[in-house]
Parts: sequence; structure tokens; C-alpha cells
Amino acid sequence: MEITFRLNGELITASEAPTRTLLDYLRETRGLTGTKEGCNEGDCGACTVMVEDAQGKKPLNACILFLPQLHGKSVTTVEGLSKGDSLHPVQKAMIEEHGSQCGFCTPGIVMSLATAHARGETAHKDVLAGNLCRCTGYAPILRAAKKVEDAPVPEGLDHIPFATPAIVERPETTDELAAIYALRPDAVLIAGATDVGLWVTKQMRDLEEVIFLGGIEDLKGITETTEAFEIGAMTPIADLIAAFKPHAPSLAEMYRRFASTQVRAAATLGGNIANGSPIGDSPPPLIAAGATLKLRKGEDRRSIALEDFFITYGKQDRQPSEFVESITVPKAGLEHLKVYKLSKRFDQDISAVCGAFNITVTDGTITAARIAFGGMAGTPARAKTVEAALTGKPWTQKTIDAALPAFAEDYTPMSDMRASNTYRLTTAQNMLRRYFAEDQGLATSVLAVTQTGKEDA
Ligand SMILES: Cc1cc2nc3c(=O)[nH]c(=O)nc-3n(C[C@H](O)[C@H](O)[C@H](O)COP(=O)(O)OP(=O)(O)OC[C@H]3O[C@@H](n4cnc5c(N)ncnc54)[C@H](O)[C@@H]3O)c2cc1C
Ligand code: FES
Ligand code: FES
Repeated sequence: MEITFRLNGELITASEAPTRTLLDYLRETRGLTGTKEGCNEGDCGACTVMVEDAQGKKPLNACILFLPQLHGKSVTTVEGLSKGDSLHPVQKAMIEEHGSQCGFCTPGIVMSLATAHARGETAHKDVLAGNLCRCTGYAPILRAAKKVEDAPVPEGLDHIPFATPAIVERPETTDELAAIYALRPDAVLIAGATDVGLWVTKQMRDLEEVIFLGGIEDLKGITETTEAFEIGAMTPIADLIAAFKPHAPSLAEMYRRFASTQVRAAATLGGNIANGSPIGDSPPPLIAAGATLKLRKGEDRRSIALEDFFITYGKQDRQPSEFVESITVPKAGLEHLKVYKLSKRFDQDISAVCGAFNITVTDGTITAARIAFGGMAGTPARAKTVEAALTGKPWTQKTIDAALPAFAEDYTPMSDMRASNTYRLTTAQNMLRRYFAEDQGLATSVLAVTQTGKEDA
């Protein structure tokens, strides 16, 4: 595949296998060894680079970024940050504040901070959640980040658009995708590659046929009406935070804790649903919100309730050549939605259990209840027996306590390295108790706790 992109200002045309990662290309083909390989699975941030296109600059993990995802874009590595003897303000501040600790983490940390600096972002702890430093020396790094907040952004790091030849495995419209996928039903669709990247780097899989979705502009973006959000499958997870914040702050907070800044910039909502994972974070809250999925195969489209998409572990209601086009999330009831993500680490971790509650109370009586969980079964699934035990009952502690045993009828969770079955069942019940307690003002909301915790930490 011939891929054209800018690398530290230079226009490059690379003829490479479609699943060659940017990290391998930088280090092995270009000799740019400043970008490090730590985990090779998107976790540690040692390989962070700055990537820019018409939508702006993003920090991305080069280890799970395939070269065709860069077609038409500009990449800056740590080697391209300084100009001659003139260091980037972040590099200078890292030296002055003693933030440069080990050679493995520092280049990635510098690239994350430089990208955030160019974007004017000052939530430094969020920015660094995807840069793991094992020596735990974050304090000087945070001081360096703070120090450069007002420093001007150096010139010469900006993307200059250029013409890109079409690549057949990289359609540019949804219609083109539908046509190509109909001819190649066995091809693997690649959206942000934050799952698929690991099939290559960790499972050593040889993907014979691939179709890259990154060039399809009409699959990206959020349309908001008075009734609903319609979210294109290729919309990055990062964009969901601002969209949901005014309507469902708890959902927005869950997305802020989804993976890391680098992964949220690449990962898409479509990929988070289509992967069928029982522990993906989007399905529980979106099922509780009553979301629907629009699927397309050739010229045919159909809409299904999101919960019906997940048939059983590893099997979704998706035909050969059919793809996810968009997700519709109704606004009605979103204000009641609360999401509780339980993971071993606060940031940058996959859920052990993710519970979402959307309970409507009218004049003291529960008039509607939609509750869904991830991590409790082979698929994301609703707690229909619990919902039935609540609906029509008074909104009281007694009702909550009486509904708790119903969890064991809805779910038979498994034990794995993330949590035991007993722990999962108990925490699911406790989430319902917490939802009630927060509503009654008997417990501080998780949202308030996490936000205060972040500031104090
Ligand atoms: C370090 C790290 C941390 C993570 N943390 C979290 C987390 O906190 N929560 C969480 O839920 N996930 C997490 N993930 C998993 C992953 O980021 C998400 O599942 C992500 O949303 C996948 O989206 P993607 O665009 O990268 O999908 P891809 O990897 O490109 O694709 C995933 C699957 O979906 C298919 N697909 C993609 N788009 C479509 C489409 N439009 N139609 C049909 N099929 C499609 C692909 O063929 C593939 O089978 C993490 C991953 C990493 C590497
Ligand atoms: S090497 Fe760890 S995130 Fe890429
Ligand atoms: S900077 Fe590398 S371990 Fe802390």
C-alpha cells in the first residue's frame, strides 16, 4: 500500500504492508529511535507522537497505529519537536523542573505535554493518564506542564495539507465502504485500531484483507436535535465527553475515565460497540439510555435496539458485509442516567463491572427503570428482573432492598483476574443502593467524589 504523510515536516510516500505500525516504521525504517517501545499495546504512552489533520492535533500511540491511518496527515516525533538548538518550551521546562527521569518514558511524556500545550489543555493529570511512569515521579512533570501553560506555541509544527492519492482499502465515503465491503465480506474493518492493533502486536495475527475507515468523513460527527444525539460510528470517544456533559454528566465522566487521552483520541464509538466485548464501557449506559443502532449492508439499512445487537459472547447481530453506521441516543431521561465504572485502577483501566441506571420516579413511584451492566455476563445485558422488581413500587429503601436478590436471577457472573463472581454480584447490588442513596442525599455522588479527588490528588 502506498501511503503519503508528512513526517517532521518532510513529505513521505511509504510502500508498506497495511498493518505495519508507525512505531516499527519510525524505529526500523527511519532510524527515529526517540519514540520508544514499552508495552506495544497502547498502555504506557512511551511511543506517543503528535498527529495532525484538518480536525487538529492529537497525541496517539504509535505502537497501535497502522501506517494507512496516517494517509494525508502530519506526524511529529520527539526528534521533530526542537528546531536546531532551540528546545520546545515543554522540553525546556522538563529539564528545569527535573521532570526528565528515564529515557523510556520521557519522550512520550514530552510528546503528550507538547500536544496538550498546542491544544491549550490544562487538565494535566488527564493528559498524562496514558503515560505510565513506574518510578512514580509525576510531581516534577506536572510542575513542568504548569510552567508552560502561557508559553507561546512554537511555529513549524503545523499541518500543511497536501493532495493524497486514493487507496482502494481506504474508502472516503460511506457509499464507497458499502460497495467495497459487499465485494470483500471477509475483510477486517479498521476504525481506530485500539482493539485491532493488539491482534497484530500481541496475538501476531496476519490480517489478510483490511478496510480502513479513517478517511470516511460522513461516518464521523455528532448531530444533536431536541430529541436525540445521532453519533456517526467513526466519532472518536474523546468527542463524546463534551457532547454528553450538559445532558448526562455521569456519562461524560465515565468517558473521561475511558482508557487514556491517546486511546480516546483514536478509539471510536462504533468500534467500542461492534467489538462485542462484554466489558466495553459504552454499551451499558447507552442500553440504559434506550439507544438504537443503525446498520448498513450495501444499500440496505436497518435499525435495532442496541441491547439486541449482543446475541451471545462473541456473536453479534451483524450479517456479512454489514457495518455499524450510527448510534442514536434519545435525550429523554438522560438526566436520570448514572454510570458506575469499577476498575482496579482509577484511570486507564478496563472495567471489572460497569453499571448504568436510568430510573424515573413520578410522584414517589418508580414509573420506568432501565438498568444495564457490563462485566456481569457474556454480553452487555439488561437487568430485567431487577427492573420489574422496581417498576410500579414506591421509591424507598424498602423497595431497593427487596429488589437486590433479583440481581442473582439476571446474572451469573464469572470469576476472572479482574474480579470474582461474588464480588461482581455484590458490587452490582451496591451500585443500585448507591444510586438510591445519592438521589436521597445520603451519599456524596460518585461524580462529586471523583472530581474533588482529581483536584486534591
Ligand atoms: C490501553 C487501552 C485501554 C482501553 N481502555 C478501554 C476502556 O477503558 N473502556 C473500553 O470500553 N475499552 C477500552 N479499550 C478498548 C478499545 O479502546 C475500545 O473498544 C475502542 O472503542 C475500540 O474502537 P476502535 O475504533 O479502536 O476499534 P477497532 O480496533 O478499529 O475495531 C474494533 C472492532 O470493531 C470492528 N469495527 C470497527 N468499526 C466498525 C463499524 N463501523 N462497523 C462494524 N464493525 C466495526 C472492527 O472490525 C473490530 O472487530 C482500551 C484499549 C486499549 C488499547
Ligand atoms: S509502547 Fe506502550 S503505549 Fe505504545
Ligand atoms: S520517568 Fe520512566 S519510570 Fe518514571
